[in-house]
Amino acid sequence: MASPLLAHQALPDSFISLVAERRSIRAYQNKLVADSLLGEVLTLARQAPSGANLQPGSFISVVGAARQRLTADLTHAWRGGAHEPEDYTYFPSPMPMTLRRRQVAAAKALYGSIGVAQEDRAGRDLQFEQNFRFFDAPVALIATINGDFGSGGYMDFGMTLYGLMLAAQSQGLATCAIGAMASYPGLIRRSLSLDANSKIVCGIALGYADADAAVNQTVTERCTLDQYFRVIE
Ligand SMILES: Cc1cc2nc3c(=O)[nH]c(=O)nc-3n(C[C@H](O)[C@H](O)[C@H](O)COP(=O)(O)O)c2cc1C
Repeated sequence: MASPLLAHQALPDSFISLVAERRSIRAYQNKLVADSLLGEVLTLARQAPSGANLQPGSFISVVGAARQRLTADLTHAWRGGAHEPEDYTYFPSPMPMTLRRRQVAAAKALYGSIGVAQEDRAGRDLQFEQNFRFFDAPVALIATINGDFGSGGYMDFGMTLYGLMLAAQSQGLATCAIGAMASYPGLIRRSLSLDANSKIVCGIALGYADADAAVNQTVTERCTLDQYFRVIE
């Protein structure tokens, strides 16, 4: 039987354009994504390699009343300044100056695109709160991993996440990973009735980009090759 993936055999340069054109998208058209298309994107994402082919991580599509409840719970917690322990550590602590500069540059690119000044706390909060609504994207995913996995499992799942982003892009869709959700793992588990060993990796917004939205004009830079590659002989 022919592999369903063969239909996606691409021109050699299309990977380059997928990678070059992908950006985090934070405003979406009010247009539904067909379940079959989402299934196709997830199937492509699962082609990611993983150690011993364990294929760690899974996705939950949160819809209808469950999505409304989750969004309400997250927004309420965030507005109230709630804190809870995260399932995994992310940023180095303390943050070295070189990384802090990258973080600030990314924030400036995002908030600058919507005309929010660095000192405008209310404006930044308004944008940040949209994380908890999945940026009103038609598809709201929660990415989870079994808590028995260590760092390697997260690494493998990261490949799947990038695969998902590029697969979505190849189908005319856009995405934004939402690490902000990992700040409320217990709340998410309670809201979605997940077991204690389902660790919350991030949320993912997915849908058709609103190309004209100011926030989607955000462009981030990358460090130069010599900053992350060297030869030792
Ligand atoms: C795991 C992960 C978590 C992220 N979390 C958030 C988030 O909570 N909110 C947000 O607006 N962007 C989030 N982003 C998007 C990053 O800010 C973005 O990838 C980075 O600035 C580079 O920009 P680009 O994706 O447009 O190339 C996240 C990205 C990744 C990979």
